[in-house]
Amino acid sequence: MNRLSQYALVIVGTLWVVSFAEAASNPDLEAKIKEGHQLFTTATFQGNGRVCETCHVAGGRTQGHLPNGKPMPSLMNAAAVFPRVRQGHITTLEDQIRKCVGGAIEGTPPAYGSEELGALSVYLTSLSQGKAIELGGTPQ
Ligand code: HEC
Repeated sequence: MNRLSQYALVIVGTLWVVSFAEAASNPDLEAKIKEGHQLFTTATFQGNGRVCETCHVAGGRTQGHLPNGKPMPSLMNAAAVFPRVRQGHITTLEDQIRKCVGGAIEGTPPAYGSEELGALSVYLTSLSQGKAIELGGTPQ
């Protein structure tokens, strides 16, 4: 290997390490994840008093349950299996969040493009960090 390609390797390696470090500690991203988690555990959306965590327990990290106790999967891979297509109808992760607010919480769903919907979406996607995309997959 000549000296020039050795230099090139060192530069590429350094850039990689620097960008990786940035991705791991991006304060803006961390703030949005926190904001989303906060909404997940406290926001009632002027509904029936339930919050996301009422059913999706432990921030969605473990198996959840309906108010009647019926178990349901965690949200750990939700971002990896959405958008979902059923009978030709597409449901994005944001559609599903709004559905749960309108249905399960009987509240006012946050508008598309809103800060709240964005933060919830960032939070849920952070749960699936590192998981392979599995379109058509089942929630775990
Ligand atoms: C009363 C219980 C209840 C509450 C409260 C609730 N959900 Fe859900 N959620 C469900 C049920 C039941 C499903 C699965 C049924 C379905 O596919 O529509 C579901 C599905 C989901 C899914 C899709 C999971 C997957 O992988 O298929 C996401 C994402 C989700 N909820 C997010 C939220 C968020 C965010 C909130 C708060 C804004 C919330 N939910 C509040 C009951 C609830």
